[in-house]
Amino acid sequence: MNEYGTGSYGSSASEVPPLVNPAFMDGVHSSPAATGDPERVSEPIPFRRAEEPAEPVIGPTGRPMPQLPEPRPVTTHGNARVISMCNQKGGVGKTTTTINLGAALAEYGRKVLLVDFDPQGSLSVGLGLNPHDMDLSIYNLLMQRDVKIDEVIVPSGVPGMDLLPSNIDLSAAEVQLVHEVTREQTLQRILQPVIADYDVILIDCQPSLGLLTVNALTASDGVIVPLECEYFALRGVALLKTTIDKVQERLNPKLTIDGVLGTMYDGRTLHGREVMERLVQAWGDTVFHTVIRRTVKFSDSTVAGEPITSYASSSAGAEAYRQLAREVLARCLDG
Ligand SMILES: Nc1ncnc2c1ncn2[C@@H]1O[C@H](COP(=O)(O)OP(=O)(O)OP(=O)(O)O)[C@@H](O)[C@H]1O
Ligand SMILES: [Mg+2]
Repeated sequence: MNEYGTGSYGSSASEVPPLVNPAFMDGVHSSPAATGDPERVSEPIPFRRAEEPAEPVIGPTGRPMPQLPEPRPVTTHGNARVISMCNQKGGVGKTTTTINLGAALAEYGRKVLLVDFDPQGSLSVGLGLNPHDMDLSIYNLLMQRDVKIDEVIVPSGVPGMDLLPSNIDLSAAEVQLVHEVTREQTLQRILQPVIADYDVILIDCQPSLGLLTVNALTASDGVIVPLECEYFALRGVALLKTTIDKVQERLNPKLTIDGVLGTMYDGRTLHGREVMERLVQAWGDTVFHTVIRRTVKFSDSTVAGEPITSYASSSAGAEAYRQLAREVLARCLDG
């Protein structure tokens, strides 16, 4: 008798074919066969027999995967939680996480505003906007008191998700803000009027710990730290933590770290698994159970100017960000 109760696999353990534990592979509940994704490779895991009590499934972070509830439907919106994606290291998945977590939260019925707070403007470009073709950007909001936030917010192309766009102009703001008395609170001030309109506001930070990032942290309730699962991932994290602590102490007592997210994970390599182990050693339960695997589909969807959740809706990457959305909701939005 196998765990499906059909008995067709025979009765001895040696006849039972190894099952693939999808959560171990990807942190998502779909099998490689189901998604047809050739980038996903099976790894055998210890199987479970019917008579044994259900063992908790060990996730890619080495901890038992919790059951993440289906998010409750919402009928009213507002009192947004503001979350910054922050890591001064470049190319770790901040922008990719902002777009795709935002899109997944919008799929679950949340009203989402994405804030492009990086002069590179990658978030805006990743949602199909032309950086040279913006009448108004977040720069105008920061620098001109007569510009209202409603004039600058644009639809993102994803139902339920809007965007506050940016382009290279924003780099001038960093220099000009230095002279303002409340220079660290400027972003907080401009977001204030729309807190009542959204459920979540995600801020995509630039790869630095300068004044723009301090503004983002001052305006936020929480921080998500994306970390690429490679050898140097933890370098600089202490400095990031110190910056978050200082902002919390001096400017924004409510600021908390909502989670550390392992990105570009490759569970097939010992190296990838070791980095993940060190991440959990260093950050404990702050590390999200959800892990984002390395796949070229993310760059493809950026080129297409849309989130992976619509570009490749049933891909493992899209499912991973939906799972992250459920984890974020359970951890800090619906709790
Ligand atoms: N899980 C992933 N697998 C493979 N490629 C990825 C993954 N996540 C992001 N990428 C790619 O890696 C590159 C960097 O990602 P992204 O722009 O999200 O990082 P970032 O932290 O925002 O970078 P920056 O610090 O420059 O703003 C992009 O080309 C993106 O498409
Ligand atoms: Mg970025």
